[in-house]
Amino acid sequence: MGWFVPGRRNRVTLLLSIDVLELLRCPDCRASLNRHGDGYVCTGCQRAFPQERGVARFVPPENYADSFGFQWQRYARTQLDDASSDESDKDFRRKTGLSPEDIRGKLVLDVGCGMGRFAEVATRWGARVVGVDLSAAAEVAARNLADREFVALQADVFSLPFAAESFDFIYSIGVLHHTPNCEQAVKALPQYLKPGGTLAVWLYSAYNRWYRFSDLYRRVTHRLPAKTLHGMLRVVVPTVNAVDSALRVIPGIGRPLSGIVRYVFPVNRNPNPQWRVLDTFDWYSPRYQSKHTYEEVFRWFESCGMQDLRVVEVPISVQGRKPLP
Ligand SMILES: C[S@@+](CC[C@H](N)C(=O)[O-])C[C@H]1O[C@@H](n2cnc3c(N)ncnc32)[C@H](O)[C@@H]1O
Repeated sequence: MGWFVPGRRNRVTLLLSIDVLELLRCPDCRASLNRHGDGYVCTGCQRAFPQERGVARFVPPENYADSFGFQWQRYARTQLDDASSDESDKDFRRKTGLSPEDIRGKLVLDVGCGMGRFAEVATRWGARVVGVDLSAAAEVAARNLADREFVALQADVFSLPFAAESFDFIYSIGVLHHTPNCEQAVKALPQYLKPGGTLAVWLYSAYNRWYRFSDLYRRVTHRLPAKTLHGMLRVVVPTVNAVDSALRVIPGIGRPLSGIVRYVFPVNRNPNPQWRVLDTFDWYSPRYQSKHTYEEVFRWFESCGMQDLRVVEVPISVQGRKPLP
């Protein structure tokens, strides 16, 4: 299987391949799957799911998330934690409310894993993680986490290829608001949790006024070819940040002027210049992008019977538990 690392093949093959086949179901007819070459075939409707470049494919190769595929291929490792940064680790805690003790040894689903920055944290904490992404980002995650207890699949949150009640934890960070229907996407997930399992989601906040101008620009920018938009942002982002920095040193009016620039031309301000372009592209390129309130998300969780709901640190993060029978 393409996602296993040669050095760890025996152990990982046993741990992951058996588990994954047991978890998998046909997204169309829900029957179990058999191996078929490198990929899978449905034992019910006979639909085949090929494996390409280390990732089993449960969706057509092209879809509305293509800009994310472009983005994560291009910035494959920018947001991965390393010796100089633990930003993803901190972000994971602040957006899911999970800690290493919660997920160590557990089977976890990362919905919309992108290039795998949060699955990297979860596997480092000792979880076994299955990551799904609608875009070709799944390939990047598979490559980035080839030495971890991690399997990536290209699949859609609206028709996930898993048996019900498979996972101990499911998290989805910055993903479900990029689908055509965030409410349905959230409600699609509890069925895959074991009883007593936890679901944590982070969505864009509807309370933030910073979004006004960017929402206006997005009407145009998301229609541009990814390459064109990226080329533009490689110029615009450093320029806006340079103007902003120059204004801020002017005594008196400098700071208010810089505030206006930042409000009217919202771009990311991370200290890492690559991260700034990446996150600004991530903001302006997606076809779908909705914003939400705690009231909405609590209502969605409750309508699925989720309990012990709690707000986590970064708006809008909500965590809930599936009741025991
Ligand atoms: C902003 S990125 C976040 C990626 C990752 N969670 C992170 O925070 O780095 C959103 C991701 O959601 C994925 N996505 C969008 N719609 C999806 C869907 N219907 N099913 C699965 N993934 C989806 C995109 O392909 C993209 O990689």
